[in-house]
Amino acid sequence: MAKFDAEKIRGDFPILSVTTNGKRLVYLDSAATSQKPIQVIKEIDRYYREYNANIHRGVYKISEEATQAYEDSKRKVASLIGAKGIEEIVYVRNATEAINIVALSWADENIKKGDRILITEMEHHSNIVPWQILSKKKGAVLDYVKIDADTGMLDEESISEQLSKKPKLLSITHASNVLGTINSISEISKEAHDAGATVLVDGAQSVPHMPVKISELGCDFLAFSGHKMLAPTGIGVLYGRSEILEKMPPAFGGGDMIMSVDHQSFTSNDLPWKFEAGTPNIEGGIGLGAAIDYLNGIGMEDIKAHEKSLTRYALKCMEESGIRTFGPKDEKARVGAIPFEIDGVHPHDVATIFDSEGVAIRAGHHCAMPLVVEVLKKPAVSRMSFYIYNTEEDIDKAMEAVSKVKKTFKLS
Ligand SMILES: Cc1ncc(COP(=O)(O)O)c(C=O)c1O
Repeated sequence: MAKFDAEKIRGDFPILSVTTNGKRLVYLDSAATSQKPIQVIKEIDRYYREYNANIHRGVYKISEEATQAYEDSKRKVASLIGAKGIEEIVYVRNATEAINIVALSWADENIKKGDRILITEMEHHSNIVPWQILSKKKGAVLDYVKIDADTGMLDEESISEQLSKKPKLLSITHASNVLGTINSISEISKEAHDAGATVLVDGAQSVPHMPVKISELGCDFLAFSGHKMLAPTGIGVLYGRSEILEKMPPAFGGGDMIMSVDHQSFTSNDLPWKFEAGTPNIEGGIGLGAAIDYLNGIGMEDIKAHEKSLTRYALKCMEESGIRTFGPKDEKARVGAIPFEIDGVHPHDVATIFDSEGVAIRAGHHCAMPLVVEVLKKPAVSRMSFYIYNTEEDIDKAMEAVSKVKKTFKLS
């Protein structure tokens, strides 16, 4: 494997040469969405210039080409996560839609009044609200695994205690978009299966950043978004174990998801198309295929190592500068998303001053209000997050922005 070459990678991302507020753009918000390399942009451009057509239905050449490229990209996804084949890869809009499909289909069939659904206190709203809606509809109980606010880790006793109540479903994030915490999914999945639960893993913050294999996670469903892993917005993945997907009813009806239709009824299409009603995001699928090629060209292990090294460096710089960070202190236990606060300064002011220095970070509740507001007891926090194109120099720029915040608010 060639040495990780961040400078060469940066050269593939046209947006990294723009200036913002007169400064070089330092993009530290990849947990929200990633930037796109020229290889992905070009592949989408080529699709529209050379073979744009609707898929599955055409017998003419460019429609067949588009169908081939779209379905080939599912093969790349299947291989990336170690699924059996494309029958286990359902294309959706994003991780949110993937989770909602499980709620609308699997859970609607399997969750009855009084059943328990278990999530954790570190979930994104996309893995909370669908279960609140479903619980209300079914009269089910929604339980939470607690987290330790100081360490940012799940409370192991709380996991065991909640699993002893025999939930029907455990829906859990692999990595927290706020704290960065990586959960030990393989052990938790096993415990949950032993307790009789079906396991859904939210991989939105893990699949883009590290090798993720279904066999290691041991889960039944995995949800993630293409836009956080170099692909365009509007394409995401629901992985489901084929034996489970086979038994699930379609969540949406329409074209493409049927084998045949008469006046009163229909028969469903094969997997995965049973869950893909209507014209899909063809450019998105093709873009995701190109994104996976790009990531594989670097290697997921090397991507993980690069981000760990940046995270270690950033944690050290922030500690030296007296900034409070949240989440695990050891970079091995986290992905490269670091929430922080500068005492006495509102996170939105922090982000605004960072922006004036060309540094893009996020501030707010990060779509995780139960965690930020109720557990961390903060109205908002600032967060910097890293990807393959970030360097230590970017973190140095962020630390210069920290100095400007301190100077502006006369903190030092
Ligand atoms: C952990 C986690 N889960 C789910 C999502 C939802 O992703 P999307 O908005 O692409 O559906 C996000 C987005 O930030 C996330 O960080």
